[in-house]
Amino acid sequence: IDIKNLRTATNGVITLDSGYKNTGSCESSITFLDGEKGILRYRGYDIEELAEKATFLEVAYALIFGDLPTKEQLEKFYADIKVQSVVDEDVKKIVDAFPKSAHPMGVLSSLTSALTAFNPSSVNVKSEEDMYKAICKIMGKFPVLVAWTMRKKQGLPLNYGSKSLDYVENIMKMMFEQPNEPYVVNPIIKDALDKLLILHADHEQNCSTSTVRIAGSSHVGLFASLSAGISALWGPLHGGANQAVLEMLEAIKADDGDTKKYMAKAKDKDDPFRLMGFGHRVYKNFDPRARIIKKAADDVLNDLGVNDPILAIAKGLEQEALNDPYFVERKLYPNVDFYSGIIYRAMDIPTDMFTVMFALGRLPGWIAQWREMRLNNEPIGRPRQIYVGETLRSFKSISER
Ligand code: ACO
Repeated sequence: IDIKNLRTATNGVITLDSGYKNTGSCESSITFLDGEKGILRYRGYDIEELAEKATFLEVAYALIFGDLPTKEQLEKFYADIKVQSVVDEDVKKIVDAFPKSAHPMGVLSSLTSALTAFNPSSVNVKSEEDMYKAICKIMGKFPVLVAWTMRKKQGLPLNYGSKSLDYVENIMKMMFEQPNEPYVVNPIIKDALDKLLILHADHEQNCSTSTVRIAGSSHVGLFASLSAGISALWGPLHGGANQAVLEMLEAIKADDGDTKKYMAKAKDKDDPFRLMGFGHRVYKNFDPRARIIKKAADDVLNDLGVNDPILAIAKGLEQEALNDPYFVERKLYPNVDFYSGIIYRAMDIPTDMFTVMFALGRLPGWIAQWREMRLNNEPIGRPRQIYVGETLRSFKSISER
């Protein structure tokens, strides 16, 4: 088959695949996913092993550059990131201009796009070296934007990290540091956060990643492509599900913990309500990330001594769904977002920041996919359509309509 020719000459034949359920958009060596068997691997490494043994920065390196780093490679990468872990002071003015009520995902997407103005050299990358510089910049600056987004909402002063902490510890310091109190890293939270970020780090051609790739395929820069991806992630059918899950669990709790009522609503085709955190486009047996997170939620709550009735409601819902023909027939199982919110809550992260935490985890995946797309010289993404509108009509002046 002449693949190149197929790209342009359709000979009148166009495949219609709404939502691209069966359409591959690229070749990729980053993430392997088998939805039937529940397998997820980054660069060939199994997700369970990575979540157990690796740090988030090691995983980020592997996703972006293809292999786990040596000690020297990791040290250099982190040193190059640390130099970039500041943002222009004028960005603070932009942060301050947002109302406190602004949703953090809208703020984060805007701030990420605003970085293009302060880092013009990262906009038009021409070489692998340019790419590397842009990557280190965003790996350094993105956690600052995340922390500032949260701190602004909480009325806390905007701060910076510390050069002596590791990547994830630094994120924690920037997010949780209180004025006039030395920040001490809680190793249990650090461990859980490393895991959560690793589990969210990539997931092949999902909605936000495809958005990053398709925006980037026009050769707009990395930061603008990421900003588009953040907006795509925000939706409740994608990354916004983690916030929606917690709000749903809260609603059930306020409704006397009546899980049966919500199960019935989810099954009622006249009711738009869906059980948030259930179902996945690709995983049709179980989401391997959900298994790891469920255990992590148990561990974190135990370790921190938190007794959260929301966890009991979540477990109850999962049990009911597992025994309900509607959910079984449609292969609807808890996804990664079903339990992540419970952990974020135990960490004192506000509910509307949950999707921002997802974005923080997904950052290296988006970067890796953007880099791969550029290195492969992929053509601009431009789907076709089947036109179903009016045939030719003649214009009528407004008085005749
Ligand atoms: N609750 C109730 N019914 C559901 C749910 C749910 N959460 N998810 C799917 N269904 C039903 C649909 O109504 C449909 O039923 P039908 O065959 O009788 O019409 C069937 O299951 C198939 O659902 P689709 O929407 O066609 O599946 P799709 O692959 O398009 O959607 C999605 C996947 C968006 C994840 C969906 O399951 C959903 O909306 N889940 C809730 C939101 C959520 O948790 N999103 C997070 C996804 S994971 C992530 O982004 C990290």
